[in-house]
Amino acid sequence: MEFSIKSGDLAGRASPCLILGVFEKRQLPPPTQLIDTASQGHLSRILGKGDLDGEAGRTLLLHEVPALAAERVLLVSLGPQEKYDRKTYGKALAAALAHLNQTGAPEALCALPASAPPELDRYLAVRDAITTALDKAYRYERTKSEKKPPSPLQRLQLWIPDPAETSRAKQALRHGQALAHGVALAKELGNLPGNICTPTYLADQAKALAKDFPALKVTILEEADMAKLGMGALLSVSRGSRQPAKLILMHHRGGKKAAKPLVLVGKGLTFDAGGISLKPGPDMDQMKYDMGGGASVLGAMRAALELQLPINLIGIIPASENLPDGDANKPGDIVTSLSGQTIEILNTDAEGRLILCDALTYCERFEPAAVIDIATLTGAIVVALGHVASGLFTADEVLAGELLAAGDRAYDRAWRMPLWEDYQSLLDSNFADMANIGGRDGGAVTAACFLSRYTKKYPWAHLDIAGTAWVSGKEKGGTGRPVPLLVQWLLQRSGEL
Ligand code: BES
Ligand code: MN
Ligand code: ZN
Repeated sequence: MEFSIKSGDLAGRASPCLILGVFEKRQLPPPTQLIDTASQGHLSRILGKGDLDGEAGRTLLLHEVPALAAERVLLVSLGPQEKYDRKTYGKALAAALAHLNQTGAPEALCALPASAPPELDRYLAVRDAITTALDKAYRYERTKSEKKPPSPLQRLQLWIPDPAETSRAKQALRHGQALAHGVALAKELGNLPGNICTPTYLADQAKALAKDFPALKVTILEEADMAKLGMGALLSVSRGSRQPAKLILMHHRGGKKAAKPLVLVGKGLTFDAGGISLKPGPDMDQMKYDMGGGASVLGAMRAALELQLPINLIGIIPASENLPDGDANKPGDIVTSLSGQTIEILNTDAEGRLILCDALTYCERFEPAAVIDIATLTGAIVVALGHVASGLFTADEVLAGELLAAGDRAYDRAWRMPLWEDYQSLLDSNFADMANIGGRDGGAVTAACFLSRYTKKYPWAHLDIAGTAWVSGKEKGGTGRPVPLLVQWLLQRSGEL
């Protein structure tokens, strides 16, 4: 889909369809008021019949509205004005686009960003419109034999009232597109089945990204390379699988040579059966999204590359499967991590931390300015926060503030969880330096505590996305989260915003 920014005479602009919002009780936001006046009250006369009353997201298509250059007008209800917020705005946009796709119009002029809710400045109003449109256009088709026809809508023009805001709006357009492309990549990878999206497939995705963006340098560490380094924790997980593990390294050198890099580390567990501590059968299929953290790193890298962000950015994805096998980890096994610390594996299903700890130790060599790891790490975070917020764990107050703010601004929120010393003793082991589980209580916290023992040499934060990277139910699938949070943070860190 192509996007553009327009301003100036709204009534006089030709278009197959003009999209306008209407509040409950037939209150009209300024652009709609403008068109109502131009058409000598045509809109309010029709609205007076009650056709668009009710909740946000209802639509009404009008033909031949007098004194307008647009062929049609699509009215969309925004709900009660006092309750109009970002979520309703997105709902109204999505409803309008859904209706539009039924009309077959190839192009539309949308005035909704001109009357966005008060919490959205023009930049976010435009960016949300772009990301919502592209989000709704995403369809999973890869493994369906019948492909749906592409949606008829080809071009979406966004109308803003003040031409002085055009350059800001164009920046939002650029950012929104790059962000949406990153989200779509992460969604697609999350949706792909484990027999296609293997560690090797993820590595190939990184190479494909480097083909599209030659500025990206990709290195793949094979199992032999990892063995030489001493990544005993990571390799213990992949020993139970016939798919070789990969450590995917991506370097984007967009910043000054001496500038310390930001590093994103994503869990790339392409299928988690639990290993010998086998998971129960129901919903086990969903464990194909246990590479959601890795997918979000690829998505965020893609956005950063498309925007050519002036930062040094490194993406790292430890990728493996976790399966039961004659050679798999067994409860009680003790492995030595790259850091030299030994780990007693009391539950083979707590494998994410085993592959992450070696990747996090490997990060030290880059002398990072900050490291964020992103992982579908625990079921416990889903119990704690549900599917609304990702869990944020960090001892670094600056990073905490930045990431929480980025999540708010991108509407991809995180909630801070404790990482207090008091939890650390739950990881005590009789036979090794630590156990890989801390018991049932506070499971998301003890998992984060485990990782904290491998991240002492740089500012570090951990995002547990087990509840946010996937939606269950009839429409189950990857969400692309937390790519919006990560890209927002990168935009802010790179001084783009
Ligand atoms: N990949 C899972 C966590 C998970 C659970 C992600 C539900 C998405 C939805 C992780 O590897 C895991 O199995 N964690 C265990 C840890 C436990 C054994 C300490 C868990 O959460 O049950
Ligand atoms: Mn597991
Ligand atoms: Zn897992």
